Amino acid sequence: MTEVIRDVATLRMLQGTWRRAGESIGLVPTMGALHAGHMALVQAAREECAHVIATVFVNPTQFSPSEDLDAYPDVFDADLQLLRDNRVDVCFAPTRDIMYPDGFATTVRVSGLTDHLCGATRPGHFDGVTQVVAKLLNLGAADRAYFGQKDWQQLAVVRQMARDLNFPTEIVGVPTVRAADGLALSSRNVYLTEAEREIAPVLNRTLRNAAAQIARGHGAAGVCEASARALIEAGFSSVDYLECRDAQTLAAQERPNPGTARVFAAAKLGKARLIDNVAVG
Ligand code: PAJ
Repeated sequence: MTEVIRDVATLRMLQGTWRRAGESIGLVPTMGALHAGHMALVQAAREECAHVIATVFVNPTQFSPSEDLDAYPDVFDADLQLLRDNRVDVCFAPTRDIMYPDGFATTVRVSGLTDHLCGATRPGHFDGVTQVVAKLLNLGAADRAYFGQKDWQQLAVVRQMARDLNFPTEIVGVPTVRAADGLALSSRNVYLTEAEREIAPVLNRTLRNAAAQIARGHGAAGVCEASARALIEAGFSSVDYLECRDAQTLAAQERPNPGTARVFAAAKLGKARLIDNVAVG
């Protein structure tokens, strides 16, 4: 039975009991609107840890004023059912006041990795992510915390923060879960109309084509430019970025060595902003 905890003291008490018994803890941070992608993180945590804590908190500090914070899907009962079905021990679902009480004044900023991709197109976004993930890592007191490779840059940024600030929690990356047609599962896919949902898999297909061409030796800049045009022709309204970058450092790559780079994209389709990334070679 999944226990819902909304306050810090109760969470700490339960963790203390587990720790004293020498039992490991896995943490799965989420913003809710859960789907099979989130459940892949839960499954990985289940396999490696005695207890699993999933957090459900739509973190306001990682949304800019023009983004979809108020529209972000809120389906807590369904989320809780999914967590129960997947045998999660605790659902930590704090209020905004608990996470950011009056007088809250601390920011956490990873530089460098956040200069590119979503960091460049969503200014301040990753500062909000590292702020809340730092808090959740402290609150979770977990042995391992699980993050999806769909948000590759987020995973890289969190890893860097955990290393730099000596968080004792190991950061684990989990492969992207996709629909049969290749579309990466995302809470934001509910914004797509039926017609847009038909177009959406073009993003992954285009990235895989781009990665294959770059792996065959074509220059990345030309391939990425043509791929971005293909997205617009398919019906995407704009492309925030479509770039080939080193998988670890996120430095731009023109002719990468096989296995070292990925192609990353963010593009708008109707009300949704979709992101995806695939390996080169
Ligand atoms: P959210 O978008 O809810 O995603 C929670 C976690 O699930 C992230 O680590 C994300 O990468 C992973 N995830 C989402 N879709 C996935 C898919 N199709 N396959 C595999 N993993 C997937 O990412 C966030 O929330 C927030 O930024 C958060 C880290 C919780 C901080 O607020």
